[in-house]
Amino acid sequence: MTDILDEAPTAPASSDAAASTQAEVSAEMAAISREYADTGATETQPRLDYPPYRSSVLRHPTKDPHHADPEGIELWAPVFGHQDVDRLEADLTIQHRGEPVGERMIVTGRVLDGEGRPVRHQLVEIWQANAGGRYIHKRDQHPAAIDPNFTGVGRCLTDGDGTYSFTTIKPGPYPWKNHRNAWRPAHIHFSVFGPAFTQRMITQMYFPSDPLFALDPIYQSITDPAARDRLVATYDHDVTSHEWATGYRWDIVLTGSHRTPLESDTEGDDA
Ligand SMILES: [Fe+2]
Repeated sequence: MTDILDEAPTAPASSDAAASTQAEVSAEMAAISREYADTGATETQPRLDYPPYRSSVLRHPTKDPHHADPEGIELWAPVFGHQDVDRLEADLTIQHRGEPVGERMIVTGRVLDGEGRPVRHQLVEIWQANAGGRYIHKRDQHPAAIDPNFTGVGRCLTDGDGTYSFTTIKPGPYPWKNHRNAWRPAHIHFSVFGPAFTQRMITQMYFPSDPLFALDPIYQSITDPAARDRLVATYDHDVTSHEWATGYRWDIVLTGSHRTPLESDTEGDDA
C-alpha cells in the first residue's frame, strides 16, 4: 500500500542530507534545470533519481521493472465493486461530528485518456494534510495541531463524463527533513486507477502561485516546466459555491503528450 506520507517528515535519508541548506538544494536544482534546458529534450515525468530530493537517490529502482502476466495478477488483485463506494466518501468535511478547521473547498475535474475521452466509473482516491499542514500519521510529528474533525482521506468514482468531485479543506504546507528548513508546497495526493487494479497511478495536485514551488525538490523533480505546471489546479469561480466553498478544477490525463506527471506507473509504490 502507498504510505500516507511520501516525504518521510521525521526520517531524513542521512544526517548529511538534513544538514544541507535551502540555498544549496536550490543551487543543485538550478544546475539540473540548466542542464535540462541545454539538452533541448522534453522530459515530462518525474526523475526517479533526483539528487536534490535526497531519499530518491537511495530508493529509486536500479533494475528494469519485472514484467508479469496481467491476467495472472488479476486473479489475485482486490476485487473492486461499484457498490462499495458511498457518495458521502467524497466529502472529507463530514467524516466527524464537527466541522474541520480551514478553507472549505471543492476540487473537481475529469479523468481523460490521451485522446480526451472520459475515463468513466473509475476509482479516484485522495489523501492530504489538514489546514495546519498536519497528517494523521505516527511518522508526522510536525508541531501543528491535529484536527479531530479531519482525517484527510476520501474517494469517489468518476461519472459517465469522467468527472470526479471532492469537498475538502485546503491543506497547509508542511516541513520535511529533506534539508534544513525544507517545506512542501500545499498539495493533495491522488491515486487513479485505469481499467484495472494493476494500472494504479499516483500523483499530487498543487495550488496556483505557491511560493514554495521553486524551492521544492519533489515538484522540481519534473524537470520540464510545462509538465510540472500540469500538476497545478486552476481556481474556478464557477466551481466556487455561494457562501460555502471555494472551487478548484484539475484534470488528470492518463496517456499521450499532455499526460499528467505521475509518481509511478506501478502498483504499490511508496515514493
Ligand atoms: Fe504529502
